[in-house]
Amino acid sequence: MNTTKSPLLQVEQVSLSFGGTAALSDVSFAVVEGEIRAIIGPNGAGKTSMLNCISGFYRPQQGRILYQGQDLTKTPTHKVAHLGIARTFQNIALYTGLSTLDNLMAARHIHMKQTVIASALYWGSARREEVVHRQQVEEIIDFLEIEHIRKAVVGALPYGLRKRVELGRALALEPKLLLLDEPMAGMNNEEKEDMARFILDIHERRGITIVLIEHDMGLVMDISDRVVVLDFGRKIADGSPDNIKQDEKVIQAYLGQE
Ligand SMILES: Nc1ncnc2c1ncn2[C@@H]1O[C@H](COP(=O)(O)OP(=O)(O)O)[C@@H](O)[C@H]1O
Ligand SMILES: [Mg+2]
Repeated sequence: MNTTKSPLLQVEQVSLSFGGTAALSDVSFAVVEGEIRAIIGPNGAGKTSMLNCISGFYRPQQGRILYQGQDLTKTPTHKVAHLGIARTFQNIALYTGLSTLDNLMAARHIHMKQTVIASALYWGSARREEVVHRQQVEEIIDFLEIEHIRKAVVGALPYGLRKRVELGRALALEPKLLLLDEPMAGMNNEEKEDMARFILDIHERRGITIVLIEHDMGLVMDISDRVVVLDFGRKIADGSPDNIKQDEKVIQAYLGQE
């Protein structure tokens, strides 16, 4: 991988605290276009907080997060999705009363309203646009192998499938950068392998850059290009999976948790 390319995302000296708790302290790292960038670290290390800062949900007190030259710390959350950044949540966020299909269609409508209106005017018909949305959503359903649950109410689905639908919802936004917060947490081994395969496919076939938070070290080391390690809100290591595995500070941080 060519890491001399200019980064798609640049996190610069970000600090975030809640009252007296420092969730992130002076964290910097870059994400290069086309890579799978993992963020790992013990519970409470600040991983989710970092994603929340990137998606504009939290505002760090210090630092900048540049995405294609634009500072995300000054960008309203709803605009971040329009920039091509989508995410999944550690605790699944879906419309539990709606079907799989409707959850994916809703994602397209909410985040692409401007496009819908613009093209409705252009085509003179909103119907045409609806057909295009529908086709794209059907492609995602096909890709994630969830045809059998396309009409199923999401709240009634088993956990592993809900996680997959949530990934579909994020893909429906057609992101350039996808932020995944523990996409395999709580899954059995087979579900984890399926999810890893989908993540790799998304990356390879769709060329989407991925920031991945995950606890399963075997999987992280297998599928990511580079790894950032956080501990108590600080970055303690940053490098290739092979380097990270041998890093004394990283080993210490994980041993300390056992
Ligand atoms: N909204 C919040 N209010 C108060 N404290 C928070 C909030 N979000 C995160 N924290 C604190 O920030 C620290 C980092 O949390 P988090 O980013 O969730 O860690 P991780 O995802 O690595 O487990 C923890 O001490 C957590 O309690
Ligand atoms: Mg977390």
